[in-house]
Amino acid sequence: MTPTRRIARIFRGTPRNLARLAQALARGELVAVPTETVYGLAADALSPRACRRIFRAKGRPNSDPLIVHIHEWRQLELLAEPNAAARRLAAAFWPGPLTLVLRKKPVVPAIVTAGLPSVAVRMPRHPLLRRLLKLCGRPLAAPSANPFGYVSPTTAEHVRLGLGAKIRYILDGGAAPIGLESTIVDVRNPRIPRLLRPGAITREQLEHVLGGRVAVARRSTTTRRGAQLAPGLLKRHYSPHTPVVLHETAAPADWLSARPDEAWLLIMKPKRTTPPTVFWLDARGNLRGVARRLFSQLRKLDAAGYRRIHAELAPGGGLAEAINDRLRRAAAAS
Ligand code: TXA
Ligand code: MG
Repeated sequence: MTPTRRIARIFRGTPRNLARLAQALARGELVAVPTETVYGLAADALSPRACRRIFRAKGRPNSDPLIVHIHEWRQLELLAEPNAAARRLAAAFWPGPLTLVLRKKPVVPAIVTAGLPSVAVRMPRHPLLRRLLKLCGRPLAAPSANPFGYVSPTTAEHVRLGLGAKIRYILDGGAAPIGLESTIVDVRNPRIPRLLRPGAITREQLEHVLGGRVAVARRSTTTRRGAQLAPGLLKRHYSPHTPVVLHETAAPADWLSARPDEAWLLIMKPKRTTPPTVFWLDARGNLRGVARRLFSQLRKLDAAGYRRIHAELAPGGGLAEAINDRLRRAAAAS
């Protein structure tokens, strides 16, 4: 077998580089971009040819639709049919880690939405991506910049490791400050908003702004046409190669007696001395820190060749809902 050729180059966000990357996007090329949640693999959302490249590079099935990233509200009206619920949520959380599913307009290519009559749109907050979006003047379709099914990337280096042989341009915006993919909410029926994927914007926050209950979608809903309603709900997704075993809480008795080839990933740093196979996500168990480091820790442990990763679930609601959702997906058998 020939060794994989890496063609990707990592670009710092200088004005010159941003102009160059905007030109590449305008030519229909792919650019991996930083966002506040995870890195995305971007293409001109209005070009079916450019968007097809995303699916090819990721090995992503055509039935899994893309999120479209916009710079300003005007672009949402170009792509979708917003309603009062969308306006409220956007006013409260955009730019930020919230994706709205709305009825699409004909200008959105079918490849972007996997043939669905809806489109998922988000206005990201990351300053470099905002500058790039402004330079492009067009919406950018971007799923997470990882090979299909693997853990989402939170650094430019993660992107290079996963897709370095498939893409040419990676914009480095540092480590993603949130670390989990956006909250996705379907607001097509404003009276029954549905949470399709939990994220940093919590269900409680959505309910507070909308002034009513937000329903939680069941996993792996499939439409008659075969496209998934929210393929992010696929059970196995975001998975490391190493088997992950979940624990409600991990007592010292569990990890002190663990085999040397099994890692333990705890939420908080234990008070006592730990064996070298014990890791934690945040010194004090702060959930924002836990979310920010979760994917990079899973990648590190995956690369270290452990036989098994034992992971502790996060306590409570709010952000813990999103953290535990990703842990459950990482642990789900295919
Ligand atoms: O934070 C994020 O959302 C990141 C960054 C790059 O923005 N993007 C991301 O995309 O995580 P990803 O790989 O999860 O793919 C987009 C997901 C689909 O798998 C699906 O769950 C959902 O967005 N989606 C897209 N269009 C949809 C639609 N019309 N209806 C329901 N869900 C949709
Ligand atoms: Mg993804």
